[in-house]
This record gives sequence, C-alpha cells and structure tokens, in this order.
Amino acid sequence: MAESRTMTAIEVSQPGKPEVLVPANRPVPDPAPGEIRIAVQAAGVNRPDVLQRLGKYNPPPGITDIPGLEVAGTVDALGEGVEGWRVGDPVCALLAGGGYAEFCVVPAAQCLPIPAGLSMAEAAALPETFFTVWSNVFERGALQPGEALLVHGGTSGIGTTAIQLGAAFGARVFATARGAEKCAACVRLGAERAIDYAEEDFVAVVKEATGGTGVNVVLDIVGGDYVARSIDALAVEGRYVCIGFVRGATANVNFFPVMTKRLVLTGSTLRARPVAYKQAVAEQLKARVWPLVAAGTVKPVVHEVFPFANAADAHRLMESNQHVGKLVLTVG
Ligand SMILES: NC(=O)c1ccc[n+]([C@@H]2O[C@H](COP(=O)([O-])OP(=O)(O)OC[C@H]3O[C@@H](n4cnc5c(N)ncnc54)[C@H](OP(=O)(O)O)[C@@H]3O)[C@@H](O)[C@H]2O)c1
Repeated sequence: MAESRTMTAIEVSQPGKPEVLVPANRPVPDPAPGEIRIAVQAAGVNRPDVLQRLGKYNPPPGITDIPGLEVAGTVDALGEGVEGWRVGDPVCALLAGGGYAEFCVVPAAQCLPIPAGLSMAEAAALPETFFTVWSNVFERGALQPGEALLVHGGTSGIGTTAIQLGAAFGARVFATARGAEKCAACVRLGAERAIDYAEEDFVAVVKEATGGTGVNVVLDIVGGDYVARSIDALAVEGRYVCIGFVRGATANVNFFPVMTKRLVLTGSTLRARPVAYKQAVAEQLKARVWPLVAAGTVKPVVHEVFPFANAADAHRLMESNQHVGKLVLTVG
C-alpha cells in the first residue's frame, strides 16, 4: 500500500520457466516530474513479458525490472507539472515496464482515459497492442481504406487488434492462425478470410482472393520462413512490417521481388522508443480509435483473467498458444 511505502510486485527471480515469477516486496515508486503514479487494478500480459522472463528481452536502460507493459487503474499521485489528470481518475497506460505491481509510474503522455463501458481488465488489454498496431500497420505500413492487409498470428493479442482495426478502417483483412476454431475467431473479428496455416498455403489463398494481385500490407509476428513467403504474397508497392519472430529472426530471402515489386521492408519495436513518440501515438489513438472502442466497433478480446499472484499460470497459458486474444492479471 502507498502509505507503508512498500507494495507487492511480481518479479522475475531468475531467467527461466513461469515459476520464476514470484511475489516480492518493492518500494512504491514516486512519480518524477511529468509522471503519474497509478494504483493498478489490472495488468495486461504480453508475449514480450514471456521473453523478458526467459532473459531474452531486457528492460531499456533506466526502466524497472518488474515486467508488465500495460495497466489500467486509477490515478494515485501526480508528478510535478502534470496537467489534465486528477487523483482518482480512471486511466490506462502504456509502460516500458513495471505493470505487474500494485503501483507503477508512467509518463502522463503515455496515459489515456478508459473508453466508456470498458472494465478495468478490458482497459488493461488495450495499450500495448493498440499502440503497436497503430504504429506499425497505419504508420509504417501506411494501410489505406480499400487495401488488403494480411495479419499473421491472427488470434494473438496483436492479431486480434490488427484484424479489428484493419477492418474498422476499411481494409480487406486476411489472417493466418492454427486450426478451425482460431480461424473462425479471426473471421468473427472481421477477417474476410482466415487461413489455417497447418492446412493451407497463405500465399496461394491471398493471391487467389485478390485476383492474383496480392496484399498491400503484411503484419508479421512470425518471421523465419514467413518472411520470404510474405514477400511473395505482397502486391506491387506492398509493405512488409516485421514486429516479432515466433519462428526465428533469420530468414533466407530472395530480394528480386523486392526490386521488381518496389516493396518496402520495415519493422519496429515500441518499448524503447522515446516518450514523445509514444505521446504522438497516444494522441492518434485517443482521437481516432478510442471513439470506436467506446462505440463497441472495436473491442479488446480478453481470453482469461488471472489473479495477480497467478501470473505464472497466465504465462503457461500464453506459451501453450491456446488463447485467443489477451490474458490479463487483476490486483486485489
Ligand atoms: N515490435 C513490437 O513493438 C511488439 C510489441 C508487442 C508484441 N510484439 C510481438 O508480437 C508477437 C505477438 O505478441 P502477443 O503478445 O500478441 O502474443 P500472443 O498473444 O502470445 O500470440 C502469439 C501467437 O503466435 C502464434 N504462433 C506461435 N508459434 C508459432 C509458429 N511457430 N508459427 C506461427 N505462429 C505461431 C500463436 O498462434 P497459433 O496457435 O495460431 O500459431 C500464438 O497465439 C510476439 O512475437 C511479440 O514479441 C512486438
């Protein structure tokens, strides 16, 4: 609790299996100028947290070692110079770390109001994937209405967001996923066609569905052999956006189609980017996406909510790849 100046956080006791996620007593962080302290009610779980637990994705310099990239809760204290927020306001925020805790601090620029009608668990499931998808599909990938988007890993947290936002902004959306159930979920979220990657070749399917043209943007969390195949699936002037590597970060690629189709190969990682960049994305989300969430056009897909102390179970489920959408921890 804030008064006792210590709080419970879930820390990574050493790199390893989910059991290394253990409760620990940590000091309640104080907000620096420009920061807000949030009394956390719910924290989203993301694949990068699993990588951090495994020792493969360290926090950027100066950022707490407590995992957790997004939270929802209430404003608990304001750092010097923070305007527009009051103690007690409901808030959700994108963090560079520290979400698996009773309290966290975050630049006010990375905080957003909770869209009307959402629970704390739903609000905690928004920031990481919505910032990432906006930044990569709409900024780097420059997806336009009427264009075709291929989302790999359609039922991942990232995928469920990308499908919905792509469709909401007027694109034709295709998605890859494993098995009939996950494919059906992708279609329910707005994909025109879901491709079971265990049964079908996504290159052939999207080429056929687009009359041989291919898709305009690929959002890839898979990497490995998907890189060359995604390049094959792209239309002239297409954009390949890489944001993850569940099949590996190296690829054997023929660059000839990059030249002949004038493709753009790009990618990005959000966590280490400057606060000013995250603020710019937050402003876009607030203006262009939060109204869609408040209207129910776009919804965070929460697969399961775990008590905070059971963070290890949430990681186990994530690594089993059984989930559709997001996993969330609740505090208290
Ligand atoms: N660059 C950034 O800024 C950024 C930010 C956030 C996340 N990410 C990355 O985005 C990815 C997704 O994150 P998330 O939190 O949404 O993860 P998630 O919900 O755990 O989803 C990962 C999905 O990957 C699919 N998958 C696993 N192994 C696969 C394989 N060998 N081939 C094809 N698909 C496979 C699984 O679905 P199936 O069962 O259907 O295969 C699984 O549901 C991660 O790689 C993460 O590191 C990047």
